[in-house]
Amino acid sequence: MEMKNNHSFLVLFLCFSLGTNLSIGEDTISMNESVSSGQTIISSSGTFELGFFTPGNSFKYYLGIWYKNISSQTVVWVANRETPVSDAAHLTIIQGNLVLLDKFQSLVWSTNISRSVPPKNLVIAVLCDDGNLILSDLSSNSSIPLLLWQSFDYPTHAFLPGGKVGYDKRTQRKQVLISWKDLNDPSPGLFSMELDPRRAQLVIKWNRTTQYWASSSWNGRTFSSVPGMRLNYIFNYSYIDNENESYFTYSLYNSEIPSKFIMDVSGQIKQLLWSTSLDDWYPFWAQPTEQCDVYANCGAFGVCNNVNSSCNCLSGFKARSDAEWNSNNYSSGCVRVRDQEVQCNGITEDKDSFWMNSIVSLPASQDTNITVAEASQCRSACFNNCSCTAYTYDVSGACSFWTGDLFNLQQLSKTETEKTIFVKSGSPEDQTKAKKSMKLVVLLSSTTAFIVLFIGSFSYIYYRRRRRRMTKGTGTQISHLDKIGGGEIIDVPYFCLETILVATDNFSNANKLGQGGFGPVYKGIFPGGKEIAVKRLSSHSGQGIDEFKNEVTLIAKLQHRNLVRLLGYCINGKEQILLYEYMPNKSLDTFIFGKFAKVCSLFSSTYTIDKI
Ligand SMILES: *[C@@H]1O[C@H](CO)[C@@H](O)[C@H](O)[C@H]1NC(C)=O
Ligand SMILES: *[C@@H]1O[C@H](CO)[C@@H](O)[C@H](O)[C@H]1NC(C)=O
Ligand SMILES: *[C@@H]1O[C@H](CO)[C@@H](O)[C@H](O)[C@H]1NC(C)=O
Ligand SMILES: *[C@@H]1O[C@H](CO)[C@@H](O)[C@H](O)[C@H]1NC(C)=O
Ligand SMILES: *[C@@H]1O[C@H](CO)[C@@H](O)[C@H](O)[C@H]1NC(C)=O
Ligand SMILES: *[C@@H]1O[C@H](CO)[C@@H](O)[C@H](O)[C@H]1NC(C)=O
Ligand SMILES: *[C@@H]1O[C@H](CO)[C@@H](O)[C@H](O)[C@H]1NC(C)=O
Ligand SMILES: *[C@@H]1O[C@H](CO)[C@@H](O)[C@H](O)[C@H]1NC(C)=O
Ligand SMILES: *[C@@H]1O[C@H](CO)[C@@H](O)[C@H](O)[C@H]1NC(C)=O
Ligand SMILES: *[C@@H]1O[C@H](CO)[C@@H](O)[C@H](O)[C@H]1NC(C)=O
Ligand SMILES: *[C@@H]1O[C@H](CO)[C@@H](O)[C@H](O)[C@H]1NC(C)=O
Repeated sequence: MEMKNNHSFLVLFLCFSLGTNLSIGEDTISMNESVSSGQTIISSSGTFELGFFTPGNSFKYYLGIWYKNISSQTVVWVANRETPVSDAAHLTIIQGNLVLLDKFQSLVWSTNISRSVPPKNLVIAVLCDDGNLILSDLSSNSSIPLLLWQSFDYPTHAFLPGGKVGYDKRTQRKQVLISWKDLNDPSPGLFSMELDPRRAQLVIKWNRTTQYWASSSWNGRTFSSVPGMRLNYIFNYSYIDNENESYFTYSLYNSEIPSKFIMDVSGQIKQLLWSTSLDDWYPFWAQPTEQCDVYANCGAFGVCNNVNSSCNCLSGFKARSDAEWNSNNYSSGCVRVRDQEVQCNGITEDKDSFWMNSIVSLPASQDTNITVAEASQCRSACFNNCSCTAYTYDVSGACSFWTGDLFNLQQLSKTETEKTIFVKSGSPEDQTKAKKSMKLVVLLSSTTAFIVLFIGSFSYIYYRRRRRRMTKGTGTQISHLDKIGGGEIIDVPYFCLETILVATDNFSNANKLGQGGFGPVYKGIFPGGKEIAVKRLSSHSGQGIDEFKNEVTLIAKLQHRNLVRLLGYCINGKEQILLYEYMPNKSLDTFIFGKFAKVCSLFSSTYTIDKI
């Protein structure tokens, strides 16, 4: 029953604030309620939606949070990114944890909080208007609810304004943004971004280990390697470093604009803003700016063209998979044309033992530098060492070796200083022929990897408008409230009805401030001139005295400096009345704002009463 009221509150709230009749879901999951496929919950003002989705052309189901009102690529958080489920899964709260169960009721994902004191019955999950999913225990003894878990602490590939990428010095835990594998698969891909707290910088890594980009240290205002971050009128960036944690965060001066910060499948971090006129995400900035600077962008032995970011193979190499290569998926790289493995023993060096590749920038991470008298010594040294893959030599006698697969070669334009690398071939083959065939293979693709990945990334997810039908268990919320209310004394002043009738001039229409979902709100004046706002709950709210008392207790527990303060209550016959601080400049929305959304304002830093 209470839920229903809460619901009508929200409906009214949305009608007020949007002037449209949207389909509304709840923003809260309580004990004994669940969200299954086809159902969603929606944050109180309709910005974010939580539910099951199937990415791109995948048939697998993932639990995620997405921007509700945006048409493309809106998923900002995925719970079970490594363990997709079939259609018949559901999200619910069990023993104080938010859990995802498959159709056999086995555990797929959990918030996995272990607590010494078993949680009481009043654990709720709320999807807040900043996109944060909060699990909170309202039954704690302290005056404010207990924050058990929040999705902002466990970002997946993206983080939203108010979220953070940081390092917790107490637990040594890092928030790491990890790209999707590809646009159809949210499982962790090769690219990740994290904070390097020692240098106060953001770094991007390949395969969790190889760092290929760094933002350079926070200078108090920005990271200097990110020119796009320079003081602007859209984002407010901050780097916080205190005894407990270091983190990078940001907010928007205008929080109405949808935005996100993502570790993209392209290997770049991107700060995106939703543009209504473009009907698309607008990239505010991306780093590294050049697609060729993304580690292993063209795979092993691939060469990235700096002009248009297309990939081709080194001389003597061919794509490992033509099909993938032709669809601009270069990640599997190139293999030797003849033998995939380098022959090492029992062959003699000849002129075709190495392929020469010119005008490339050299791959990262050479292993050994030696000094030799002449080029042939460098060549022999590499030839005779089985682990040597390639060498370079310059006239000063510097001879460098590379071992293993070569990554990050870049094709430079003719005007740049020529560099030549010699790469060990498989079996000898006619170089001239190979060079010709290479020219054919090279640069077949007509669009750049960058553009394809970029455009592709905009067009893969379509949100579903699904209205949530709450699955109700045997209990209702009221019974939970009973439990916390039980035995506790309401720590809120009681006012008698007469006082209130005097203050509001018998609930005169002149004093009516407006109508909320629970009933009308009046302005009142106490003797001495103190102004109050009086919410007179509708007699048809169907709420009993005990339920009302429980609610008062709960609201009292949710007191917060950002919220309108509850000053007192009154019960008299059928009258149930709440007395609030009167705030002339706050809208009525304050009063009709669903009670559980208050959890959001307590824990989500980007929330303020003005926004609500
Ligand atoms: C949703 O988008 C439409 C059109 O882009 C806009 O008119 C409407 O105000 C938006 N609603 C919300 C809740 O943002
Ligand atoms: C839950 O946490 C415990 C330790 O607190 C850990 O051993 C266990 O692997 C975790 N389970 C999951 C599913 O993450
Ligand atoms: C809550 O307070 C009561 C009495 O004040 C105490 O008995 C109980 O142990 C407390 N519970 C918790 C979880 O602290
Ligand atoms: C990533 O690293 C793991 C070991 O940490 C290795 O097994 C795996 O092959 C690497 N992936 C790629 C694509 O190289
Ligand atoms: C920017 O964010 C920081 C920390 O989040 C905050 O203290 C500061 O007031 C914000 N600045 C503006 C102008 O909003
Ligand atoms: C660090 O953590 C302690 C204990 O949780 C807390 O009392 C303190 O206020 C925190 N410091 C900051 C700067 O947040
Ligand atoms: C690219 O190919 C790899 C296999 O080499 C595959 O795992 C990946 O999903 C493909 N990416 C796309 C975008 O199709
Ligand atoms: C080899 O020399 C190059 C510059 O000539 C240097 O960048 C590289 O770090 C050196 N490698 C090793 C392993 O010393
Ligand atoms: C082969 O080269 C590797 C790396 O360049 C080096 O570590 C190793 O010692 C060399 N082996 C021999 C036998 O020279
Ligand atoms: C990229 O540029 C090179 C010349 O720099 C050209 O040969 C090649 O066809 C171009 N590739 C694409 C996909 O545009
Ligand atoms: C939730 O469901 C369980 C099992 O159906 C029941 O024992 C419990 O009382 C219910 N809790 C509430 C608060 O209704």
